[in-house]
Amino acid sequence: MIKTLGKELKEYKLVSVLTPLCMIGEVAAEMIIPKLMGKIVDNGIYGENMAYIFRVGVMMLLIALFGLAAGLGGAYYGSKASTGLAKNLRKAMFDNIQTFSFSNIDKFSTSGLVTRLTTDVTNIQNAYMMLLRMAMRAPATVIGAMIMSFMINPKLATIYLVAVGVLAAFMVIIMSKATVYFKEVFEKYDELNESVQENVSAIRVVKAYVREDYENDKFKKAAGNIYNMFVRAEMNVIKMGPMMTATVYVCILLISWVGAHMIVAGSLTTGELMGLLAYCMNILMSMMFLAIIFVMLTMAQASGKRIAEVLEETPDITNKPDAVTAVPDGSISFEHVNFAYNTTSEEPVLKDINIDIKSGETIGIIGGTGSAKSSLVNLISRLYDVTEGAVKVGGIDVRDYDMETLRDQVSVVLQKNVLFSGTIIENLRWGDKNATKEDCIRACKMACADEFIERMPDGYDTYIEQGGANVSGGQRQRLCIARALLKKPKILILDDSTSAVDTATDAKIRKAFAEEIPGTTKLIIAQRIASVQECDRIIVMDDGQISGFGTHKELLENNTIYREVYESQTGGANADFDKQA
Ligand SMILES: Nc1ncnc2c1ncn2[C@@H]1O[C@H](COP(=O)(O)OP(=O)(O)O)[C@@H](O)[C@H]1O
Ligand SMILES: [Mg+2]
Repeated sequence: MIKTLGKELKEYKLVSVLTPLCMIGEVAAEMIIPKLMGKIVDNGIYGENMAYIFRVGVMMLLIALFGLAAGLGGAYYGSKASTGLAKNLRKAMFDNIQTFSFSNIDKFSTSGLVTRLTTDVTNIQNAYMMLLRMAMRAPATVIGAMIMSFMINPKLATIYLVAVGVLAAFMVIIMSKATVYFKEVFEKYDELNESVQENVSAIRVVKAYVREDYENDKFKKAAGNIYNMFVRAEMNVIKMGPMMTATVYVCILLISWVGAHMIVAGSLTTGELMGLLAYCMNILMSMMFLAIIFVMLTMAQASGKRIAEVLEETPDITNKPDAVTAVPDGSISFEHVNFAYNTTSEEPVLKDINIDIKSGETIGIIGGTGSAKSSLVNLISRLYDVTEGAVKVGGIDVRDYDMETLRDQVSVVLQKNVLFSGTIIENLRWGDKNATKEDCIRACKMACADEFIERMPDGYDTYIEQGGANVSGGQRQRLCIARALLKKPKILILDDSTSAVDTATDAKIRKAFAEEIPGTTKLIIAQRIASVQECDRIIVMDDGQISGFGTHKELLENNTIYREVYESQTGGANADFDKQA
């Protein structure tokens, strides 16, 4: 984990080293000042030597300025290093997520990824800053102050040594208890984020089902859980407060009492006593900081693990080194294809699929929900890789193609399609970024989208909200078809893409395809037999297997599933594949 995260330091390695160096400079200044202070008291004030006071005073001022500069430098470099690390981590994660295949994405939840990119990185950033600035500073102060004290008076310094030992022991006990709670808090954060994310992105559904109260309850529980855990963790931490104070005062009392006796006996000067008291405070404050670092690091550890998971996830679909960069034609063949989403699951989703589709054919695919129609077509543009067998496009295994080449030529309108925030024309240009307005209009005409776009107030410059919230389902589907057409693909796949479009428009779109892009291989997944009956051939899917493959006429004659559904759909009854099955 540390190695994975450390790799992202990159250009911030130098500042990461400079920060602790600056901090050591600051500690050195802090160590010298009490010593000089003691000297002023002993030699200047008791010795009534004004010139000495002035000289050492100026020296103290200069050292204080040096300390200030070092402190500022440490703060500056520390911020630079930690925000830089955060920036690199976010970029590395985002870049890696972009390379994920569909099956990689299946492993992480959206809210999980968002939390990792935001909160988790912030935790690491804060912990790293603390680590750079304090991890050197605090132990350096404890050791430095200890040495200075021993140099002044070993007998009194032993008092702190004992105090520090006692305090450290207590701290370890309390903190190890608190960290257990802190760790749990971060697991609960995921629950809270999931609840928020799910609710906000599906707020319309929540409202439609009047589930606001239930959602409120769920959120209250998640937030309450975090509250309880934090209170328990903090309860442990605040026990440190009184203990620290008690130790500090006992220390001061002991030093003052023993010190006073020594001053009277002449073995210690007033100035030295003052110095010792200052070092005492330094040591105890640093111990406090060490405790805080300890807590922050435990919190960061959980976050770091989650970030490393994303960074270490390797895309399971990649380009071969000598990938093919041209698709000869739009023919498709499946050769003994088996496919499972999860290689460890027993039952494959697709079982021994064998099909041959000629370039330019129009193929209908029909079957009940869950019969693996989407899974079948997703293998063609290599959104998933086959488990066994091979899928070939233009006679070449899809795994041998350069992915961009393949996906440019195989245009898919996914079943769960979305539009992005931006104007209609910007959305269309996802298909082809160099498309002219005329190209866009032509594609929209084919997809029957031009009629409603022209009625919109800003036409093609109408702004689409995130996810296409301000267009209807059927309008969104037609825009997605137009976007896919702009790629001018050799193969066009429509995964139930006209389900929300009325039958007349649906027929118009199919007619336009037949006339305008006759050379393109078209795969049309549909629920209505009317949507596919004019296709050259039709595939009937049943539970991950091909139950029939032929023309409408052939299937009516020899495929019982197809015939029964056809009869019920044309006979006025509203049966479909699911009810039939
Ligand atoms: N991303 C996925 N991960 C795991 N299983 C999936 C995934 N997508 C679909 N499935 C499963 O694969 C089967 C076929 O689904 P799908 O191809 O979407 O059917 P269809 O498109 O015919 O409705 C279903 O049983 C479904 O539960
Ligand atoms: Mg589907």
